[in-house]
Amino acid sequence: MNNEWESLKNACAACTRCALHETRTNVVFGKGSETAKILIVGEAPGEQEDLSGMPFVGRAGKLLDTLLDEAGIDKADIYIANILKCRPPENRDPAPAEIALCTDYLEEQIRLLNPRAIVCLGRIAAARLIKKDFRISKEHGAWFMRGETPITAIYHPAYVLRDPRKKGDVLADLALIHEKLKEL
Ligand code: URA
Repeated sequence: MNNEWESLKNACAACTRCALHETRTNVVFGKGSETAKILIVGEAPGEQEDLSGMPFVGRAGKLLDTLLDEAGIDKADIYIANILKCRPPENRDPAPAEIALCTDYLEEQIRLLNPRAIVCLGRIAAARLIKKDFRISKEHGAWFMRGETPITAIYHPAYVLRDPRKKGDVLADLALIHEKLKEL
């Protein structure tokens, strides 16, 4: 795993497949335990992530940390990555062509990590990894199968920052994810 993981990281760091490489400061590969039980997948790096090269270090990331702590999910059990490894300018939504060009990297991360469960943060990740027409408001917290791997989606923490009333839904979903992990 280590060699393959390192070569994947290096390939990603040198990637020029789409125009985002021209504006990025850093490629944001992911962070966390390489023996994680849960893979959390966000959308794309924001400004702080682009500057630091680490996912979820800005405001949404701090909220994610708090939510995971409140739900009792141990950081040692998670790995965090994004659908896109480079920041879209002005934090616009990832373009479908960018997602298509970048997805191989995430697919390889999933194959190598072989997590017991995947948790998508928000609609963009859920539409790519669960199903195209995923409705986050109706289907958050529901479990699907991706091959052999259980997968679910919760509201993106950036959305919870805009609408704090959604925090209760996220905590309830995370509590169920915590329970589910005990079965896996
Ligand atoms: N939002 C994301 O989806 N990913 C990050 O890494 C940071 C904010």
